[in-house]
Amino acid sequence: MTRRESPITLNSEVRKALTKRHQDEHNAGHLYDRVAERLHHLGYSGLAQHFRVAAAEERGPHAQRVEDILHAFDIDPPHPKVQEPNLEDKATVLDLVYLAWKTEADLARRYEETKALAGEENELGVEAMLDGILEFQLREIEEARSLYRRCESADADGAGIMSVDVNMPAA
Ligand SMILES: [Fe+2]
Repeated sequence: MTRRESPITLNSEVRKALTKRHQDEHNAGHLYDRVAERLHHLGYSGLAQHFRVAAAEERGPHAQRVEDILHAFDIDPPHPKVQEPNLEDKATVLDLVYLAWKTEADLARRYEETKALAGEENELGVEAMLDGILEFQLREIEEARSLYRRCESADADGAGIMSVDVNMPAA
């Protein structure tokens, strides 16, 4: 028996955008691996562990949320080719933790753009699923924001970022 085509197709622009969001999550995972390595070498083992866990979340459940949308349309996203991050100008712990905040904020804006595109193309189910992802993404921003502010305050008040590091919850 011949393989039947999916009875529902996805707008090609929305498909391209979702493939990019899938890639973004994998890139974020790779970035956090690199950040974790750097923090580990600097002696911040609590923060390093935090970013190792974050990396696994990006490549696992976060990428999966996008895959779940594509699967409904009988599409498998291409295997991601992760981008090597440039951390040369990220000399300090604060630079690295700020980069995570910025990464999550950028991801939220890209999801918003993808959601708007889905709405314009009348892909309303996709738009609704992206709405759910955006809620998760705002929480990601809040987690990154609060970690950065804690590090910034500790750095400024003399306690030092190591005081944040030793109090990071063990994963
Ligand atoms: Fe993510």
